[in-house]
Amino acid sequence: MERWWNDGVKMPYPDAEIQEYRDAIQGHDPTYRYLALIDERPVGMFQHYRIADDPEYAAALSLGEDAVGVDLFIGEANLIGRGHGSPMLRKFLREVAFPFHRLDVCVIGPSMNNTPAIRAYEKAGFRPLKQVTVPGEPDSEFLMRLTAADLHSLQT
Ligand SMILES: CC(C)(COP(=O)(O)OP(=O)(O)OC[C@H]1O[C@@H](n2cnc3c(N)ncnc32)[C@H](O)[C@@H]1OP(=O)(O)O)[C@@H](O)C(=O)NCCC(=O)NCCS
Repeated sequence: MERWWNDGVKMPYPDAEIQEYRDAIQGHDPTYRYLALIDERPVGMFQHYRIADDPEYAAALSLGEDAVGVDLFIGEANLIGRGHGSPMLRKFLREVAFPFHRLDVCVIGPSMNNTPAIRAYEKAGFRPLKQVTVPGEPDSEFLMRLTAADLHSLQT
């Protein structure tokens, strides 16, 4: 994880960030993290959580409904922008995140500035919901929403 994060943007990546991964792996944080594999090779990470499990984040999003949150990244630079993100995200939602939480709604909150991520999530079926400011995050989130029914109706 540290190798994927140490991409020259923040060098070295803050240990506090890595500690969040350790906490989740050790079960201290109800965020469930998974390696993403392409042809059995680990290339990135997915995570899911129930928004209500983090009261500060839930207050910032102010959704008015119970929802699953997901995040992902592809860590290998040569695999970014090749169309892997959207199908992997749909598969993760269908097979892991929605069945785990048994909720009908999922949200994802890329940075407002992350145009490729917003486009990839739109291709996965997410629709824009609203812009939110989250305490401690440098940029606003462009919150996007997808229901289990929306996902079910997609062909792929
Ligand atoms: C976000 C991420 C998971 C998306 O997966 P991906 O496989 O790279 O995405 P895709 O290749 O399916 O789609 C990217 C889309 O953004 C578009 N795009 C790329 N750069 C763009 C730019 N500067 N402006 C507008 N669109 C752009 C691409 O054209 C493509 O859309 P298209 O298929 O309609 O042409 C992946 O890029 C990633 O992990 N990035 C690094 C970390 C990150 O940003 N994580 C997300 C945090 S919320």
